[in-house]
Amino acid sequence: MKTMVVTGGAGFIGSNFVRRIAGRYPDYRVIVFDLLTYAGNLDNLAGVLDNERVRFVKGDIRDSAAVREVLRGANMVVNFAAESFVDRSILDPDGFITTDVLGTFVLLQASRELGVERFLQVSTDEVYGSVEEGSSVETDGILPNSPYSASKAGGDLLARSYCITYGLPVVITRGSNTYGPYQHPEKLIPLFISNAIDDKPLPVYGDGLQVRDWLHVDDHCSAIDLVLHEGVPGEAYNVGGDSNRTNIEVTKLLLKSLNKPESLIKYVADRPGHDRRYSLNCDKLKAIGWKPAKVFEEGLRDTVEWYLHNQNWWRKAKDSDSYREFDKAWYAGRK
Ligand code: NAD
Ligand code: DAU
Repeated sequence: MKTMVVTGGAGFIGSNFVRRIAGRYPDYRVIVFDLLTYAGNLDNLAGVLDNERVRFVKGDIRDSAAVREVLRGANMVVNFAAESFVDRSILDPDGFITTDVLGTFVLLQASRELGVERFLQVSTDEVYGSVEEGSSVETDGILPNSPYSASKAGGDLLARSYCITYGLPVVITRGSNTYGPYQHPEKLIPLFISNAIDDKPLPVYGDGLQVRDWLHVDDHCSAIDLVLHEGVPGEAYNVGGDSNRTNIEVTKLLLKSLNKPESLIKYVADRPGHDRRYSLNCDKLKAIGWKPAKVFEEGLRDTVEWYLHNQNWWRKAKDSDSYREFDKAWYAGRK
């Protein structure tokens, strides 16, 4: 038996990843270590926590005693835990710095001391900053523009340094905009699906011509699985969906699949520091045998279906004090 600790495993991508690992590796024990912030939810692990090889431990990656306790005897660590929403990082960056930078440092230190055999840092394409043309390769400079992406860049660079300096076998993935089941309804796709279901306006920032590379969560998880097992220590791997779309294209597709009118589109003030375009070259990952399996339009239709059939799940999140407070603060003075 091998033990894998998945931090942030009660969040969107982490919970999909835990479900994948529990199903594919009968000789792995999985410990989900998660603080259950507003973004973490045990409902995301429904079914999988019944598996006797999966255990949940509530805890904070910034707490070195708790981290050392949970990592003792672990073979692998996959670090998803982060504050992950750019808009919240603009309103209130503190938690981004403490979790995404310091928390990653605490995990790396403990992993090094306890002899962890493999550490995967889940990073993001946002560390490259806005890419006006062409596509980012892993050796490009890091030029983050938001407190979120800067904090993720801090974690990404620290992780690499632990491999170079101390020989901790670290691998890094830099994934693009991910969508699919269990994504918190603060993010573009679930926010717009859930607003459209309720005939509420869809707030498009600026001119809506910003470009993102959309990646289905199953494809993101298969890439992390592959890099964890086959990636070269010290290396970073881009993970993109081969699906560059403008935000307004995505918005119109969503409205069409829900049979809702485009009059629900409402252009609002732009996000400060808004990156215009991300685009990834994923040749390095493809060379070790990965490619995205989902066609964007199909993945989006499946995702719309999931949100239509799981309204209790997202309504709970949208009705929470945390979401209401964020929404009020974000739009105060920005309409
Ligand atoms: P998410 O916000 O849905 O989940 C984050 C999880 O981390 C939550 O369960 C939360 O409770 C937990 N967490 C937060 N702070 C913690 C702390 N101090 N200690 C322990 N747990 C803590 O995020 P997501 O969208 O699933 O993203 C997961 C990871 O993937 C993040 O590192 C993010 O930067 C990265 N990423 C996300 C995307 C995307 O499009 N969603 C794309 C590329 C990379
Ligand atoms: O690129 C990877 C990143 O993708 C991850 O690292 C982040 O964790 C994840 O949140 C995501 O960041 P984005 O800022 O790109 O995602 P978000 O869903 O917040 O926004 C997607 C695009 O849609 C972006 O250009 C901003 C725009 N947008 C977003 C919201 C919430 C709107 O126009 N209106 C909105 O209400």
